Amino acid sequence: MISRRGFLRLVGGSFFSMVSLSAYAIGIEPMLLTHVTRYSLTPPNWPAGLRLRIVALADIHACRPWMTPERIASLVRDANALRPDFIVLLGDYTASMRLVTDGVPAPEWAQALSGLKAPLGVLSILGNHDWWSDLEAQKAGAGPVVARSALEHVGIPVLENDVVRLEKDGHDFWIAGLADQLAFLPSQDHDGFKGLDDLDGTLAKASDGAPVILLAHEPDIFPKVPRRVSLTLCGHTHGGQVRLFGYSPVVPSRFGNRFAYGHVVEENRNLIVSGGLGFSILPVRFGMRPEILSIELGLA
Ligand SMILES: [Fe+2]
Repeated sequence: MISRRGFLRLVGGSFFSMVSLSAYAIGIEPMLLTHVTRYSLTPPNWPAGLRLRIVALADIHACRPWMTPERIASLVRDANALRPDFIVLLGDYTASMRLVTDGVPAPEWAQALSGLKAPLGVLSILGNHDWWSDLEAQKAGAGPVVARSALEHVGIPVLENDVVRLEKDGHDFWIAGLADQLAFLPSQDHDGFKGLDDLDGTLAKASDGAPVILLAHEPDIFPKVPRRVSLTLCGHTHGGQVRLFGYSPVVPSRFGNRFAYGHVVEENRNLIVSGGLGFSILPVRFGMRPEILSIELGLA
C-alpha cells in the first residue's frame, strides 16, 4: 500500500518530471544543442580520387523568437568552420507557424545566409514553406517566390529543376536541384498539393556520365531517383521533431518512417535526410536535435 504522503510525493515528483521534460523538449534541446551530424560514404561508381566535404543546412524556418538573423549568423559560422568544399541549403527558410512572435523578412535571413563561404560555393533549393508563404505566387500559380529572389539577391543560386557542374581535383560532378514537390496548396483548380518537380527533365540536364548529387526538399521523391544519382540530400521531415529509439510517431511523408531521418540505402542508392534546424507546427523537439550535416564522400 502506498501512503498518502507517498502518493503526494509520487504525484508531485511526476508533475515535476513532466514540467522538466517539457522545458527540455521546448526550451533546452532545440535552442542550445545544435550539433554536427557526420556521414562518410563512397557511393557506388564514385570516381577514385574525388573527395568531397559537403555541409548541408535544412529547414531554417526563420522567425522570432528562436530563429533570428543572429542565430542564423551563428549557424553560418558553425557551417563555415567545418571547412566544406561547398555548402547546400535544402529549403524551408520561411516559417508559417502561428506561435511565432514575429516573422523575419526574407532579406534579413538571406543576408545572414550570405555569410556562408566555401571554395566551390553555396547552392540552394526551395521548400514547401517558401512557396506556401508567398500568397501572390500561390494565386498566380507561378514563381519566382520571395525566398528565391532574396537568395539570388545575396548571390546564392537557387536550383529549381536545374543543375550546376562543379569540379574538384580534376573530377567533374553535377549538383542537381529539384523544384518543390508540394509547391501549391490545394485550391479550386486542383485537389491536393501540386508539385513543380521534374526529376527526368532535371537529370537530363546533367548531360554526361559525371556523378550527380541531387538536392530535393522532400524525400518522397526517392523511390523514383535512378541509380545514376550518387546521393540524394533532403530535409523537410525534421526527423518528425520527436524521435525515440529510431521511430518518429509523426512524419510528413507518405512513406512514414521509411525516409524520416538519416542515411537510407535502398537498392544501392543513397539518401540522407537531415533532421533540420527549425520547427514546424509546434516548437518542440525531442530526441531530434537541430543539426548541421557534414558529409564526406570518397574518403573510404
Ligand atoms: Fe518542408
